Amino acid sequence: MARIAVFNQKGGVGKTTTTLNLAALLAKRGADPLVIDLDPQAHLTGICNAAVEASERSLYGFYSRGATLAGLIKFSPSGWKIIPSHLDLSRVDAQLGKGPQALNRLAAGIAKENLNTDRPILMDACPMLGVLSLNGVFAADRVLVPISADYLAIKGAAQMERTLRALEHVLKKRVERRYVLTRFDSRRKMSWDVENKLRERFGAELCETRIGETVSIAESPAHRRDVFAHAPESRGAADYTALLEELTASGFMR
Ligand SMILES: Nc1ncnc2c1ncn2[C@@H]1O[C@H](COP(=O)(O)OP(=O)(O)OP(=O)(O)O)[C@@H](O)[C@H]1O
Ligand SMILES: [Mg+2]
Repeated sequence: MARIAVFNQKGGVGKTTTTLNLAALLAKRGADPLVIDLDPQAHLTGICNAAVEASERSLYGFYSRGATLAGLIKFSPSGWKIIPSHLDLSRVDAQLGKGPQALNRLAAGIAKENLNTDRPILMDACPMLGVLSLNGVFAADRVLVPISADYLAIKGAAQMERTLRALEHVLKKRVERRYVLTRFDSRRKMSWDVENKLRERFGAELCETRIGETVSIAESPAHRRDVFAHAPESRGAADYTALLEELTASGFMR
């Protein structure tokens, strides 16, 4: 099944929000998703009430002590699986080095434990191109790049494209990817301008679905909920439903 890294080097573009809500919807539809929180900020872990005090019980335990990934799994309030992050994970970049083995560590763990045979995996990357994010991209078979609808995001998107191209030289294959516009405000000309620029640049790799800037999406993390649990009838829930449907229909997600 699909292994998706949700990644953009730019911060605050909706990576965590997108991972959270896609995982929640996949679970609602019976897919048993596994989410891996690769961000030492541990935002997703916090929203899912999955924080652990001892860092070895988080993903850090996999890197620092060789813990099994399966042994680190916790459950979100809605019942789907998450491997939590911890601030100590920020040490991994310095500890692992940058060789191929370091970059493939997570991919090897997932393969060894057969974690991906019957469930999709979603990985929430941090806003930095380091060993951890690269572990996510190397463990993934596709990358979803959220882009917030503002001007600086266009620069960020161009940077991401360059990064993915550079990685393709190392991986020796094209990284299948989709870009998705988030925080879209149809009343702002800027949102439409950004969409037009991204459409020119990315063509069909830019999803048709836009995730609107909505109160329901902004507020749900404060209640430690995904948007479907928080406001099932909201625009935000409808937008993420449309996104999953588009990703499935286009074959990006199986
Ligand atoms: N569609 C949306 N409508 C309203 N608020 C949103 C939307 N998407 C994200 N946000 C809010 O924007 C902020 C940044 O979103 P999020 O944490 O998902 O971004 P990120 O890319 O994961 O950030 P980081 O790079 O720090 O990991 C959060 O407060 C989130 O609740
Ligand atoms: Mg995040």
